[in-house]
Amino acid sequence: MSLFSRKKSLDVLMAQAGDSEKGLKRTLGAGSLIALGIGAIIGAGLFVRTAAAAGEHAGPAVTLSFIVAAIGCAFAGLCYAEFASMIPIAGSAYTYAYATMGELIAWIIGWALILEYALGAATVSIAWSEFLNKLLEQFHLGAIPYEWSHSPFERALDINNVMHVGIMNVPALFILLLLSLLLIKGTQESALVNSVIVIVKVAIVILFIIVGWKYINPANHTPFMIPKNAPPALKPDGTFFDYGADIRNNGLIGVLSGAGVVFFAFIGFDAVSTAAQEAKNPKRDMPIGILGSLVICTILYVLFSWVLTGVAPYTDFVKSGKEASVAYAIETYMKDQLWLAKTVTIAILAGFSSVILVMLMGQSRVFYTMASDGLLPKMFSDLHPKYRTPYKSNMILFLFVGAFAAFVPSKIAGDLTSIGTLFAFILVCIGVWVMRVNDPDRERPFKTPLVPLVPILGVVVCTIMIVLLPRDTQLSALGWMVLGLLVYFGYSKANSKLKE
Ligand code: ALA
Repeated sequence: MSLFSRKKSLDVLMAQAGDSEKGLKRTLGAGSLIALGIGAIIGAGLFVRTAAAAGEHAGPAVTLSFIVAAIGCAFAGLCYAEFASMIPIAGSAYTYAYATMGELIAWIIGWALILEYALGAATVSIAWSEFLNKLLEQFHLGAIPYEWSHSPFERALDINNVMHVGIMNVPALFILLLLSLLLIKGTQESALVNSVIVIVKVAIVILFIIVGWKYINPANHTPFMIPKNAPPALKPDGTFFDYGADIRNNGLIGVLSGAGVVFFAFIGFDAVSTAAQEAKNPKRDMPIGILGSLVICTILYVLFSWVLTGVAPYTDFVKSGKEASVAYAIETYMKDQLWLAKTVTIAILAGFSSVILVMLMGQSRVFYTMASDGLLPKMFSDLHPKYRTPYKSNMILFLFVGAFAAFVPSKIAGDLTSIGTLFAFILVCIGVWVMRVNDPDRERPFKTPLVPLVPILGVVVCTIMIVLLPRDTQLSALGWMVLGLLVYFGYSKANSKLKE
């Protein structure tokens, strides 16, 4: 059997999913699924990377970057919704590929999803660490030393012109440990915590939009895109950022590159699909969960980025406003609203926690499914005797994610996350089309409109965003995928439950 024809039968998959006595518990309704989506979606992408994209690529036109990224996600989201309603099983894109394009492609997607979920969790835990420091500063409780809250690849001058170099990001490790333990305790408890946080998080975004609107300085919105000859901006390490040096740093290409950066802010709606096996009525609720959370977030993002870039000039986000940018903008330009800066920081810390939670959960569910198929060692699918959660997988994941969170800068981890996700999106779009051709009669409770146009457009938009991400990140992602192939041919192929 070739690796492309080594496929899982959909009927066997569905039978396995129905066998919920032995597997994961079905506890989540449509509302919880939308909350799960928003819980994973609104996070560092909005509160940290909006400023990075505005400062280094798009300027105020970062609002357009959000729209471009949303369009790519919408195409992929429609394809995800078809699959998630048709194959409501844990494992998301990995499982869809196993049924449609064969084991090797499924493995490649599963491996790319590790970049998405595991590195996504690492990126957000690094942002959590930034905002924790901000909170300590706001309440005059001192600060965690730069060395112990940054990776060894980061450096910055302090106000006395002394250079500090990072050693290890300890707060990021701390939050990862705490949330891994919560996940081991149980999905239902985690979903409850998540729902509370989502309400707080959405409320704070709306509050910032309403309060901040009055502080918009129209001059900050002109010119809308960064001109090629914009004066260089000062960076935290004392060097300058040159807008004319790269076509990705100005104009329309800057807006598209910005889309690749803020794409991170949308990652997570697909995490809803990893919980399909825990949904009470997956056929109806999966599309609602995926598309509903995507629409709500897009509206909030466009308004939020319009206000943020209206309140502070984009060049600020290259220097002092780079970390904890929202609190910075309020403290610097909305001085009579300092209460908001503190509230925002607390809400954001809680908000980041829910993103990390869903990412870690999504990753452990993908591991669970891959291990059940024999492609990863069995310990990844061992369930806790009492809590029925994949606890060993959660613990191994903590070590892996923790290593990145402690020693890798947020920008690199974030861009790698985006590439892994975009790649998975591309394969899901192709998968929907393949499935329509190979198995046209199967029941599809939700159908992606205009196939193959929508999947093709999804592939095109996601590919453009990958191409515009930094070259180093593209090479690192390629290295990761090569490592994945070595693992597949060295271990998984021989241990697969589908081998002849
Ligand atoms: N979308 C998630 C975030 O913005 C990953 O943090």
